[in-house]
Amino acid sequence: MKNIAILCSGGDVSGMNPALKHFVEYSLQKDLTPYFVYDGFEGLIDNNIKEASYCDVAGIITRGGTKIGSSRSDRFMQEKYRKIAKQNLDNLNINMLIVLGGDGSFRGMDVFYKESGIKFCGIPSTIDNDINGTDYCLGVDTALNIIKTSIDAIRDTASSFKRAFVIETMGRDCGYLALISHLTSGSELCLIPEKEYNLKDYEDDFKTQMKNGRRYFIAIVSEGIKQDSQEIAEWFEKTIGIESRVSILGHIQRGGNPSIYDRLMAYKFVTHAVDGLVKDRDESVICYTKSGFEFKSIIEVTNKTKELDPELISSLTTDNV
Ligand code: F6P
Repeated sequence: MKNIAILCSGGDVSGMNPALKHFVEYSLQKDLTPYFVYDGFEGLIDNNIKEASYCDVAGIITRGGTKIGSSRSDRFMQEKYRKIAKQNLDNLNINMLIVLGGDGSFRGMDVFYKESGIKFCGIPSTIDNDINGTDYCLGVDTALNIIKTSIDAIRDTASSFKRAFVIETMGRDCGYLALISHLTSGSELCLIPEKEYNLKDYEDDFKTQMKNGRRYFIAIVSEGIKQDSQEIAEWFEKTIGIESRVSILGHIQRGGNPSIYDRLMAYKFVTHAVDGLVKDRDESVICYTKSGFEFKSIIEVTNKTKELDPELISSLTTDNV
């Protein structure tokens, strides 16, 4: 029997639990012994590594977050701790590791692989959808659905009260969640880090809309833009002349019942990752693009900032306002 382990690193996403469930079931089906590394790279260092069975994953497919915990590990950046991690894996005869995480986690694993020879496959998992080389990261669909439900609910109260709502989405430096939510929720304004803006460009149009009877505005702003959401709300109050509120969606975007799409993608990502490792693919990330699933090198995935679809960004033009 060969031993294979899985860990979650960085921000958790809905879809990690379905991935863990399929990991255990598929590994056993392939005559591999599955192991869980608890609390990310921290668990690798602290030897928090345990054999996993069907019982561990029963009933978790409906749950957001990750049953085995996650972490952002500063210690794993130091060689002395990576040596301990390698020893812990050696003691359990584990030489294949699946890492659910973002590009920072993959960079860490790349260094670890070069030092230790432990084979690994990364599964892009972040609600930010900011990993180069893959169109989709696990957790994004569930996060977008939570944002959609939140915006729909906020619209009800905004329209009842004649208010502007500034809704802040997560995404770190990437405006993907905000942009897609804007396009699919019909908001009046969307501000993302990838597109320069000047609120002045919207002033005349928004004032005219108010004169013509508009009762409310929905503005979706990404957390990485140059201004604080409160400043945007003040602009609505002072310049446009409408009472306004800020709603920072925050960590609710990361949790919740995983969508069907995330459950299915978890299944597919894990299948490819296990198959790749068994077939001796030593270090790669399993990516999903228009041409399907393909393994990409760590360099390709980590050395470039992901660019948003220019066609979608171009919808943010102020030419018509
Ligand atoms: O990377 C995922 C993410 O949720 C970002 O969108 C956000 O900026 C960050 O993590 C929040 O981190 P924390 O959970 O440490 O507050």
